[in-house]
Amino acid sequence: MATTAVPVKCRNVWKIYGERENEALAAMREAPLSKDEVRTRFDCVVGVQDVSFDVGAGETFCIMGLSGSGKSTLLRHVNRLIEPSSGTVEINGQDISRLSARDLERLRADSIGMVFQHMALWPHRTIRDNVGFGLEVRGVGRRERSAAAERALDLVQLGGWESRYPDELSGGMQQRVGLARALASNPDILLMDEPFSALDPLIRRELQDQFAELAKAMNKTVLFITHDLEEAIQVGHRVAIMKDGAFVQVGRPEEILTRPADDYVARFVRGVSHLHFLTAAAVMQTWDSAGPDGAGEESEAGRAVGPDTPLTELLDVIAGAEGGLAVRDGERRLGTVTADGLLSAIRARIG
Ligand SMILES: Nc1ncnc2c1ncn2[C@@H]1O[C@H](COP(=O)(O)OP(=O)(O)OP(=O)(O)O)[C@@H](O)[C@H]1O
Ligand SMILES: [Mg+2]
Repeated sequence: MATTAVPVKCRNVWKIYGERENEALAAMREAPLSKDEVRTRFDCVVGVQDVSFDVGAGETFCIMGLSGSGKSTLLRHVNRLIEPSSGTVEINGQDISRLSARDLERLRADSIGMVFQHMALWPHRTIRDNVGFGLEVRGVGRRERSAAAERALDLVQLGGWESRYPDELSGGMQQRVGLARALASNPDILLMDEPFSALDPLIRRELQDQFAELAKAMNKTVLFITHDLEEAIQVGHRVAIMKDGAFVQVGRPEEILTRPADDYVARFVRGVSHLHFLTAAAVMQTWDSAGPDGAGEESEAGRAVGPDTPLTELLDVIAGAEGGLAVRDGERRLGTVTADGLLSAIRARIG
C-alpha cells in the first residue's frame, strides 16, 4: 500500500455526452465553445471540461455550482460510474481505467463510500441490516456485520436505533443511516453528492457540523458536492466553483469569499453571511493600537482566546469578560477583542 500516494487525483478530465463526443472534444480543444454551441453543432452535452484536481489525505474538497454545472458527472468519474471522454483518474496512485472489473469492484467496496441526496433504504430491513448491507453482499458474517453497523451508527449518533425500520426515522435520521452505511466498511474516501440538500435548514446545519467533525476525527478524504456555497464553506477545506463543466475557481473558503474570481462566483458570495467567518483576528484591535491601558489591558487568566476563535464562541465568552478578551497566538499577544469592537464589526457586515 503506497501510503504517500494522493488519494484522489484527476487530470484533464473531459466528459461529453452524445454520439459525436470525439468530434466535439477535438473542436473544443481547438477553440473554446459554449455549451450551446456544442449542442447545436454536435448535438452533444458538455458534462465536464478539462478538470484537474487533487484531494489530499484527510482533506474535504467541496465542489459547488448551479444545477447542471457538472458536479455529479465529475464525482461519478471518481469511482468510475462514468468513463471520461478523455483524461485520467487515479485513486491512491492507481489509474482506475486500468483496473480489472474485479479490482474495480474491490476498490469501490473497500476504499470508497458514497452518499447521495436521497439514500434509498430497504424498507423491510432494520436499520442495522440496511447499514450492514454492503458487508453482507461481500460475504461478511452476521456478527461482524452487526458490530460494524453498530459502530457506524454510533458515529452518526444513531446508537439505539439498530432494530427500527426506515419509516420510523425522520428524513435527517435516514440521511445519517445512509452515511453510516457508507462508513460501515471504513473506506478512506467518501463521495458525497448533495447529502444534506433535501433537509430543512436547521437539521442541515447540524449535520454539516457533525459531518465536518466526523470527517476530521476519522481522517477521511472527502469529495463533497453542494449547490450551496455556505455549506461548501462550512464543511470544505477547499472549495471548487464549477460552471458549465469547468472549474472557475479553486481555493480555501476565505479566498473564495474575499477574492471571487469572477461575477459568477461573486454572486454566490453575496448570498453568504460573512458573519460565520468572523474570527477573533478579524475583529480585534491589534495590541499596538490598543495601547497600554484601557481595552488593551491584559485580561485575567483564562480569558485569552486564539486568533481563529469563531464569532459564536467569542459571543459566548465576551459577555462575562470585563475589559475585553486577549487574543494570543501561543505566547504572543496579538490584540484585544472588546464587546464594542465586536458589535461594530458585526454592524459593519450586516450593512
Ligand atoms: N446521462 C446523461 N446524458 C446526457 N447528458 C447528461 C447526462 N447526465 C448529465 N447530463 C448533462 O450534463 C450536464 C451536467 O449534469 P450534472 O448532473 O453533472 O449536473 P449537476 O451539477 O450535478 O446538477 P444538479 O445540481 O442538478 O445535480 C447537464 O447539462 C446535464 O443535462
Ligand atoms: Mg447533481
